[in-house]
Amino acid sequence: MKYIPLPEPVFNSSFSIEKALLKRRSIREFSPYPLSIEEISQLLWAAQGVTHFEGFRTAPSAGALYPLEIYVVIGNVKNLKQGIYKYNPYHHELILVKSGDYKNELYQAALGQEWVKNGVVCFVITGVYDRTTRKYGSRGIRYVDMEAGHAAQNLLLQATALNIGCVTVGAFYDNQIRQILEIDIDEFPLYLIPAGKI
Ligand SMILES: Cc1cc2nc3c(=O)[nH]c(=O)nc-3n(C[C@H](O)[C@H](O)[C@H](O)COP(=O)(O)O)c2cc1C
Repeated sequence: MKYIPLPEPVFNSSFSIEKALLKRRSIREFSPYPLSIEEISQLLWAAQGVTHFEGFRTAPSAGALYPLEIYVVIGNVKNLKQGIYKYNPYHHELILVKSGDYKNELYQAALGQEWVKNGVVCFVITGVYDRTTRKYGSRGIRYVDMEAGHAAQNLLLQATALNIGCVTVGAFYDNQIRQILEIDIDEFPLYLIPAGKI
């Protein structure tokens, strides 16, 4: 396994939360200009970063059970090889799943939505429902879906503040995404979020 430590996220900004709420828009056209590892770090932290010594994160989680995982399919990021990486919030690091360019496969799995291919990266939020339904029964299903929304919105607002465009994509074939990410049947892809400079 290959672990890539991420740069420390930044906790201050001159871009207000109100301005991010005002300006956030789904962006489906991107510049091919690469993103930086600092930007990837900041976006992942916004989505699921650990913000408390007991492990609590930027987004709320039913029972603090944290059923979400975030992957990032890297196409063009300075100083980071193309490949699929999994975010480890506890150590704020990336774990290499596999090297290579998978954006085209992702695009096909997403019913040919061009923006999935044209972003320089694509985040994938998955949910492991069992982690939450074990405690909350079938109501846990909705909790996991809600949590994906929280994490995605955090990422979108952070992207807006960094002048990075992105869009939440819910239309794709689950099993094709599972194959690309090499994840098990109990892990459900919930959102694709292609991103790039505007
Ligand atoms: C659950 C969900 C699924 C979505 N799926 C897609 C999608 O598959 N493809 C896409 O281009 N946009 C998708 N969107 C983005 C919406 O089209 C977009 O949010 C809507 O048009 C409102 O525009 P705005 O985000 O700029 O406010 C999705 C949004 C949500 C909340």
